[in-house]
Amino acid sequence: MSDRYAVFGNPVSHSRSPDIHHAFAAQRGEDLVYERIEAPVHGFPAALAAFFDGGGLGANVTVPFKEQAHDLCGELTGRARQAGAVNTLWRRDGVLHGDNTDGAGLVADLRANQGWALGGKRLLVLGAGGAVRGVLGPLLAQAPAELVIANRTLARAETLVERFAGQGVALHASALDALENRFDVIINAISAGLHGDMPALPDGLVGDATVAYDMVYGARPTPFMEWAGAAGAAAVRDGLGMLVEQAAEAFLVWRGWRPDTAPVLASLRRG
Ligand code: ATR
Repeated sequence: MSDRYAVFGNPVSHSRSPDIHHAFAAQRGEDLVYERIEAPVHGFPAALAAFFDGGGLGANVTVPFKEQAHDLCGELTGRARQAGAVNTLWRRDGVLHGDNTDGAGLVADLRANQGWALGGKRLLVLGAGGAVRGVLGPLLAQAPAELVIANRTLARAETLVERFAGQGVALHASALDALENRFDVIINAISAGLHGDMPALPDGLVGDATVAYDMVYGARPTPFMEWAGAAGAAAVRDGLGMLVEQAAEAFLVWRGWRPDTAPVLASLRRG
């Protein structure tokens, strides 16, 4: 029987993870089936248990189950504990193990695919929700000169600053309209960016060497990407590379080798 994996979410029908993992496995001719499972909003633990009881080897988790997945695990990696969320699961000796590969995936895309160094740079992260909490640890580990978390609700940004303080990086919270100065790298994780309106941001954040990254991806540039381009950013990218890189990190955790992401990313871009 094939090795079985799945992504759990609600909704999950849009997920590209099956295509990505099937392409990874094909690189070494490995036999793997990766499916989408839409768990009921209140039925995630039962659906996950049924999957592993039925012989599933590993699961990914997406919105809205990442925090719940974290709470269900008997063992967590350091980065999952730090994120307070889990996107990669497996079961060993009856114990559910959880990891979080989102931040590593983001950093791999920024560094290896985009060629953007983060060390010593001024970073601005827009948003303070679960998506940001999931990536802050790996971003801080890159030793930027400064990282500012800006959010509509200032208190949420301040909570994240408290949680992630003490890692040797100047870490600050800001309201969106109180931002000033230019940043080297701007990363958007305001989820409104996927659907429609981007909140108004002050002028002067973007210089001609600023690079801008949206953690979501879609068929068209997001409002954040349009804003950054119009403001004169040197480069503007979506989050498709992060998706592929976090998948490669999960594949490595499960199967012990890291797939080549470049051809998979290129094929997804072709559509
Ligand atoms: P995610 O998992 O995507 O991070 P989340 O935890 O719901 O989802 O966080 C959503 C983020 O988008 C938050 O930073 C939210 O700001 P608030 O904390 O002030 O709610 C931000 N966001 C969503 N819609 C927004 C809007 N219209 N304007 C500004 N920020 C918005």
